[in-house]
Amino acid sequence: MSREVEEDEDRLRQRRLEEVLEVKSLRRIISAYLNYPEAAEEDVQRYERSFRKLPAAHKALLSHYPSKFKRLRRCISVNSYFIFNMLQAFEPPLDMSLDVDICGDPVLENVPYDHPTGERKACSPFASTSGRMRCSKQDQALLQEGSNILCNSITGLTTDEEMQSAHLDKIPPGNFAGTIVKHDEQDEHGGNDVTGSNGNVTSSSHNWLDPSLQLNVPLVDVDKVRCIIRNIVRDWAAEGKNERDQCYKPILEELDALFPNRCKERSPPTCLVPGAGLGRLALEISCLGFVSQGNEFSYYMMICSSFILNHTQTVGQWTIYPWIHSNCNSLSDGDQLRPVLIPDILPASAGITEGFSMCGGDFVEVYNDPCQVGVWDAVVTCFFIDTAHNIIEYIEIISTILKEGGVWINLGPLLYHFADMHGHEDEMSIELSLEDVKKAALHYGFEFTKEKTIETTYTTNPRSMMQNRYHAAFWTMRKIKAATT
Ligand SMILES: C[S@@+](CC[C@H](N)C(=O)[O-])C[C@H]1O[C@@H](n2cnc3c(N)ncnc32)[C@H](O)[C@@H]1O
Repeated sequence: MSREVEEDEDRLRQRRLEEVLEVKSLRRIISAYLNYPEAAEEDVQRYERSFRKLPAAHKALLSHYPSKFKRLRRCISVNSYFIFNMLQAFEPPLDMSLDVDICGDPVLENVPYDHPTGERKACSPFASTSGRMRCSKQDQALLQEGSNILCNSITGLTTDEEMQSAHLDKIPPGNFAGTIVKHDEQDEHGGNDVTGSNGNVTSSSHNWLDPSLQLNVPLVDVDKVRCIIRNIVRDWAAEGKNERDQCYKPILEELDALFPNRCKERSPPTCLVPGAGLGRLALEISCLGFVSQGNEFSYYMMICSSFILNHTQTVGQWTIYPWIHSNCNSLSDGDQLRPVLIPDILPASAGITEGFSMCGGDFVEVYNDPCQVGVWDAVVTCFFIDTAHNIIEYIEIISTILKEGGVWINLGPLLYHFADMHGHEDEMSIELSLEDVKKAALHYGFEFTKEKTIETTYTTNPRSMMQNRYHAAFWTMRKIKAATT
């Protein structure tokens, strides 16, 4: 066999491997969402077991508990209803029916579930994408082998009639006529088109929700679903306004002040939001008149933000019960079991500027690219820079992709995400103090124009007796020159 043919075959195998890994990873995330009702039900059963162990006199004091358990189950099924509608609206960018067992290929057969995916391009349904999507390293580290069929993963879902009787908005998410997220097919800010143009397959039917394709995932995966539910409140509920005012408002005010003439300019300034989470900040920046791009690498986040951004039809269309999963620090059952309506605004009519997009993929992979050099007028990082393996690399990339005179606005703590990843070989984690972060920024050509501390919470239940507060660093830096090396 000639060398070229061998190399071609190697490349083909590599691509196949990457696709398999991506499908496995995405299946696992979808399975985590689908496992939610079952895992939540197990919690309620645990509470019931504890309750049954009580002496009769103590039980009598808590005679309302059986009805609380009933209400909890009702809340779980309402949350599950939302989740299932979200999954139904999701169009996987990959062929989810791909045979991931790939018999006969020794390399592929031996690939563990936690193998990091390769460099292939993948995208979320609404996103322009140039990097790979994945669950975070933490997610990957927790991946388990095995693909036990999950038969009852969506049992306990609430039917439309039940939803109606609960006085809840039950509009099914139908297909939104076109996405609100506008981007060019080959947009200059680093995205390829969504499904189709890069060879990815969009499953038109929902056979990827078939129970036989689902995995029995570890509980920690389902915990991530619960975190997403809390994130929804931060970004898309009236209850999250206070937190958004603490975190997003200073950023928006700063952008507003720094680009006073943006509406008069022929082309609006560009702003990138790495680690965009559920997309609210990126949307608000777009509404301010910027060409805004959110970047996010977690499918957990992207599936949810895509649903809210592209498929919501009315304000308060969905009801969720975000606080039911913790019995701790509750002032009352009423607080714990209170509903939250989402979204608080209708993204489609929020007033976004042309060019708003969400770009799926690892920030480092997507933006450490020659075509990104000097592209952005502003980069906004909110609770993001501490997600780095190497924060200096983030700073270097931010500096490189900014135009000269461009600004970097940051808000957040330094709670390094990989700091506690003991036992995972090769999990690099560089944990700089704020002082050293600033030194690195100066080295990469930044100068401070503003610096302060902002007190804030992050996805905190505003009615909880526990309110973890960050004294987050807030700064604006201007790129005055390229790095000194
Ligand atoms: C702490 S959350 C903050 C989300 C949002 N900025 C906010 O303030 O609510 C950090 C986000 O960054 C994402 N993220 C972490 N590492 C990333 C990377 N290398 N590339 C892109 N996104 C990343 C995570 O998935 C997560 O959504």
